[in-house]
Amino acid sequence: SEYDPKAHEGSPQSLVLLVALKNLFSRQLPKMPREYITRLVFDRNHHSIMCLKNRVQVVAGITMRVFHEIGLGEIAFCAVDMNEQVRGYGNRIMAHAKEYARSIGLTFFLTYADNFAMEYFKKQGFSETITTPMSVWGGYLKDYDESTMMECIINPNIHYLR
Ligand code: ACO
Repeated sequence: SEYDPKAHEGSPQSLVLLVALKNLFSRQLPKMPREYITRLVFDRNHHSIMCLKNRVQVVAGITMRVFHEIGLGEIAFCAVDMNEQVRGYGNRIMAHAKEYARSIGLTFFLTYADNFAMEYFKKQGFSETITTPMSVWGGYLKDYDESTMMECIINPNIHYLR
């Protein structure tokens, strides 16, 4: 189905869900300061994709910063609830993130992957080889030594949910 990025923008329901998403990230990404997670999840330049169970329970989520001017989505947070891991939600949520990215015209994802999540990102089509020249994204993101930057190209002709 097609995405309507503005469908839930600003609704009270979406705020409740964003709070639940922020709490999911805080639980699953303990090394990230809580205030930092809160700031990004509620920031207008960040877009979030969630997987809901029974319409209210957030079981998985991805939050990305969108840089429209260069077609970049920076995946800031990606997590699946502890009790729901290894059931395919991780695969599914990333497919939705890619389809959403495609629908708003993004052409690549970058992320700073935790070491233990690198295999997961590789299975999602991310690579340690960054093919997009640094001249494109260097002014937006830094290449830290402590974490591994990974890239995933978004192909405008692929429907990622098919
Ligand atoms: N190591 C190796 N393979 C993995 C790992 C891992 N840590 N995690 C998942 N996989 C593989 C699975 O085997 C599966 O492979 P398959 O499709 O061949 O069967 C595939 O990746 C996806 O599995 P899912 O069941 O869809 O993934 P899951 O729902 O368990 O979610 C996730 C994976 C998001 C990494 C989850 O384990 C999680 O939330 N971890 C804690 C938070 C975290 O580390 N997030 C990433 C931090 S980096 C960042 O946010 C930018």
